[in-house]
Amino acid sequence: MKKTIFILCVVLSILLIMWMVGRLRRGGNAKVGEYMASNRDTEIVIYDIDDLEAMAAEIIPHGAFDYIRGGAETENTLRRNVESFDAVDIYPRVLTGVEQPDTTTSVLGTVIAMPIIAAPAAAHGLAHTSAEAGTARGVAAANTIMSVSNYASSTLEDIAKAGAGAPQWFQLYLSKDDDFNRQIVKKAEKLGYKAIILTVDAPVGGNRVADSRNNFKFPLSLPNVSKKTIKTKGHGVGAVFAASQNKLTPYDVMRVKAMTDLPVIVKGVQHPDDADVAIWAGADAIWVSNHGGRQLDGAPASFEVLKQIAERVDNRVPIIFDSGVRRGQHIFKAIASGADVVAIGRPIIYGLALGGWRGVESVLDYLQMDLQRVMTLAGTQNIAEIKDVSLRPRCDCVQCGGI
Ligand SMILES: Cc1cc2nc3c(=O)[nH]c(=O)nc-3n(C[C@H](O)[C@H](O)[C@H](O)COP(=O)(O)O)c2cc1C
Repeated sequence: MKKTIFILCVVLSILLIMWMVGRLRRGGNAKVGEYMASNRDTEIVIYDIDDLEAMAAEIIPHGAFDYIRGGAETENTLRRNVESFDAVDIYPRVLTGVEQPDTTTSVLGTVIAMPIIAAPAAAHGLAHTSAEAGTARGVAAANTIMSVSNYASSTLEDIAKAGAGAPQWFQLYLSKDDDFNRQIVKKAEKLGYKAIILTVDAPVGGNRVADSRNNFKFPLSLPNVSKKTIKTKGHGVGAVFAASQNKLTPYDVMRVKAMTDLPVIVKGVQHPDDADVAIWAGADAIWVSNHGGRQLDGAPASFEVLKQIAERVDNRVPIIFDSGVRRGQHIFKAIASGADVVAIGRPIIYGLALGGWRGVESVLDYLQMDLQRVMTLAGTQNIAEIKDVSLRPRCDCVQCGGI
């Protein structure tokens, strides 16, 4: 009897230790002020990027999750961002001799392992205690570019340090305070950021109904802007946007160009004429985006406008594309429609919540692997070959099938 109890105790102790080690490694949630953020530290097994949203909903507090996931109003544009990729098909080519396709590419002189980069997004501290510093580490591990919002919850210094020399771009919402604009751009330059992204599609915040219903307030400060321009902790998205410059013109692109020697990327372009104007004003790259459906609901899906814009840009400057990219086939279709690289928003934040920097790396590795698979099945050996592919408009009727 004694022996049985002893064995039982030993087994239970082993199980307890295994559970504790597993929990330590995976992490759980930790208190940051009054806010409970994830502090997990683990790779994530990904079968489909779409699964991450529901998984992240389990660990990101409700109001913050809605802020990250949500779009404007009816979320029509948010939904269409993903659905629009189905309007075209990739015509697979066989007997092409393609093997282990190469996803390496370059943008604005920076060589990266894949045509997939991190989009700038505010307040990663909502998803994980390591915040943007964690994201930067994961993005650096995946050998690609980290874009940093000026509404980040880590300092620019910490993010640069966590990236350990990997390429990073700094995203600016112009503040009404021009001294602040100059100072932060200079600071980013000094810290080694390689480009300035000027976001122009958010003169005001979109009507995000879930945030209003939840009366969402940032539970953490946004340290790169809070002291100088606005109080961010305890304030809603509207108050944060209110501190930025609402009226934007081509002159503002010129102004930012005059502040820095770094390339300036204009983010949030959705019309070919605006691409022309931005290039005329000095943009070194165009970022086609509708902000992940978070701004103007009822606007077209980002992918729907990409080809027209690319035709107008006509290789004068590189094109970065985002909004709704979730799969290798989406990346392939975007590049075949004129994008040079694509950026990923929400799935990277979900990866951060689910696994910290390792989770971010898992998301990027998964997308790279998925792109490689699509490239193999489509018969393209490298990124240049994807650019030469003609996508096939989808046709549901039997008669118009065929080439
Ligand atoms: C939570 C969240 C915060 C964002 N914050 C910013 C920001 O501060 N600056 C910016 O230019 N874009 C911001 N965006 C937009 C992203 O840069 C990107 O355009 C969008 O997320 C891409 O769509 P996707 O999430 O479908 O990939 C944000 C997006 C999300 C989801």
